[in-house]
Amino acid sequence: MTPRDHDPVLADALEARLLSGLSGAGVYLMTRDGRHWFVRKAARDAASSARLRGQAARQARFQAAGLTTPRILGEGDHDGRFFFDMELVRGLDAASWLRRATLAEVRSFGDRLCAYLEAAATTPALATAPAPGLFEAIYAKLCQVAAHPAGARMAPEVLAQLFLALDRVRRLGPRAPTLCHGDLTLENIVVGEGGQLTVLDLLDAPYEHYWQDVAKLHQDLAGGWYLLTQPRIAASVLDHLSRRLCATATRLDPGYPEVHALLLAATFVRILPYARDDAERAFVAARIDHFTSLLRTTP
Ligand SMILES: Nc1ncnc2c1ncn2[C@@H]1O[C@H](COP(=O)(O)OP(=O)(O)OP(=O)(O)O)[C@@H](O)[C@H]1O
Ligand SMILES: [Mg+2]
Repeated sequence: MTPRDHDPVLADALEARLLSGLSGAGVYLMTRDGRHWFVRKAARDAASSARLRGQAARQARFQAAGLTTPRILGEGDHDGRFFFDMELVRGLDAASWLRRATLAEVRSFGDRLCAYLEAAATTPALATAPAPGLFEAIYAKLCQVAAHPAGARMAPEVLAQLFLALDRVRRLGPRAPTLCHGDLTLENIVVGEGGQLTVLDLLDAPYEHYWQDVAKLHQDLAGGWYLLTQPRIAASVLDHLSRRLCATATRLDPGYPEVHALLLAATFVRILPYARDDAERAFVAARIDHFTSLLRTTP
């Protein structure tokens, strides 16, 4: 039985295969003629349509050196459920690719991500509505998660430390919004045969700034988020990439090191309410504790 038998949003498919469907959207590899394959991402219900519509618009407009996005082929609506079609990107997800990459390949991967950060730093933000600044975004998220049942996983001292560290962000002063992917994890990067990087699954970021992308990449590089679904990547590879990205971010803005650990802690705080079970909540809480403990040793 194929997904097509179940889901009317695939009524025009000759054949379809489910690639991923754990979230608010189903991702299908499909063909109408048995020869040309493409990817359809479809909202599960009308309620998740707005987010997906925003994602398609962001994907179509995202342009920066170093990274490309799959070309959008079309979009539509089925019973209030938005869907969009895009070209099928050939390659491996970045975590699988990095496990097999040579040193030269790892360097070139780092070059491309750093080139992207440099381009993003001088490219206007994609969001059309005014987005909150970094201070407001982290403050609001800490309050929201603290009030959520999963927030009980954060010790009061940890929460207090995070609120105190926010003062560094306030003292740094505002940063103008810039281009950002919004969910730049290793899973959302496809590495092609020539090492080119295509990014998927763009999101409106909590604050529209390339620092969000540096922090999200470190969710995997330093926080090991990818370990929930993938085997380990060599520590030397992760360290190399982390050092390159932090050096580039610091060159672009000398204020970056002051906020790095706080951004990472905030990234895991944001995930906490979505953790699927107790083991995952413990994994996320351990990262929040770890990055918060680094706040005591950084300036
Ligand atoms: N255009 C594409 N070409 C090749 N593979 C794709 C393409 N789009 C998605 N995929 C594959 O499907 C997976 C899931 O897609 P995607 O990241 O867009 O959604 P998701 O992570 O399931 O959903 P969410 O929007 O909730 O984060 C990707 O990690 C990738 O492996
Ligand atoms: Mg994804």
